[in-house]
Amino acid sequence: MNTSGSQTPVPAVSSVLVDDIAVLVTNDPGLGDGVLGEVPDAALVVENGRVAWCGPRTQAPAADVRVDAAGRCVVPGFVDSHSHIVFAGDRSREFTARMSGRPYEAGGIRTTVAATRAASETELLGNATRLLREARAQGTTTLEVKSGYGLSAADEERALRVASRLTEERTFLGAHVVPPEYDGDPGGYVDLVTGAMLDACAPHARWIDVFCERGAFDEEQARRVLEAGRRRGLAPRVHGNQLGPGPGVRLAVEAGAASVDHCTHLTADDVAALADSAAEGRATVATLLPGVDFSTRQPYPDARALLDAGARVALASDCNPGSCFSSSMALCIALAVREMGMSPEEALRAATAGGAAALRRDDVGHLAAGARADMVLLEAPNPLYLAYRPGVPQVAAVWKDGELVAG
Ligand code: NIG
Ligand code: FE
Repeated sequence: MNTSGSQTPVPAVSSVLVDDIAVLVTNDPGLGDGVLGEVPDAALVVENGRVAWCGPRTQAPAADVRVDAAGRCVVPGFVDSHSHIVFAGDRSREFTARMSGRPYEAGGIRTTVAATRAASETELLGNATRLLREARAQGTTTLEVKSGYGLSAADEERALRVASRLTEERTFLGAHVVPPEYDGDPGGYVDLVTGAMLDACAPHARWIDVFCERGAFDEEQARRVLEAGRRRGLAPRVHGNQLGPGPGVRLAVEAGAASVDHCTHLTADDVAALADSAAEGRATVATLLPGVDFSTRQPYPDARALLDAGARVALASDCNPGSCFSSSMALCIALAVREMGMSPEEALRAATAGGAAALRRDDVGHLAAGARADMVLLEAPNPLYLAYRPGVPQVAAVWKDGELVAG
């Protein structure tokens, strides 16, 4: 931008060299070592919001501006493929009761529905914007956002309108739970979700989701929801197998869903179905949400079994006021390593490239030439530190589309 006031145009910055990177995580095994495609002593060039070049710093091309990573580590921005940040109210007392033994139940969602319906659009946008900024400051550069606390046509449409100010990855989750005005008539509510509510919401969303679980929607109801969404151009994803074994994974694979999320309680058949979908090149990603299992005192999902079978795995926050009020992808990585049998490298890959696969995106979640320049400078010499230093803020800077957005 020319701010000099003179007649001579000042050239716009067109390329930036990020230099002296101790370890660059590309997520491209063709470019470097291991599952993370790690390049030691690296540099990376950004042009027009994209990675133009990356590799050993001794081979780096010239650029207009140099940014000094000063011997620290650069990783792709986190791709958090599951959140519910459009809401009002607070459930800290419900959390506290759970910590002393009360079980998590889907019914708690109604508490947030009441508060969200009573809130203004400005308040909802303010809350969601704060949470998006909070996530960004912790390294999340792509964030999926669901509706699901409105549960009327107008309130769900409003939630998606709010989400459209924040992200392109928007999911219609009218089938979260049956709201109180449909008590005793779940079929009537599914008619609304697949009719007028879908008409109002489809123009604002890319995805359709359903909570297929005891206390929410059964297999037949969930299938109807996904099928209606598909007819309106929305691609399917599923909340399943959170509170117990159930049909969620089977249904998701059958529907060709991009992702089935939670996967806390899986049978051997579920694991095999997910692995088969990956082997056939139409992976339904198993998106694991360890922050939820932490905050609801559930067992953790068996990531090792999924990876060993060949399933595609992602980690996501599920940031929401009920089952997990945390936007920290670093927490997810630490829990996945400590509790779920993942190596630190596998966990970072799941939180970046895995999330991208769960959103069927190839422009984010990696840092090869052509990818979006969404990246995080860590206050750490290597990526193992994400799991090695749990609870410690280690994000020094965050770029999205090549623009510095935090740090
Ligand atoms: O993904 N499982 C369903 N929905 C959210 C929880 C929402 C809530 O408790 O408010 C989840 O965990
Ligand atoms: Fe969720």
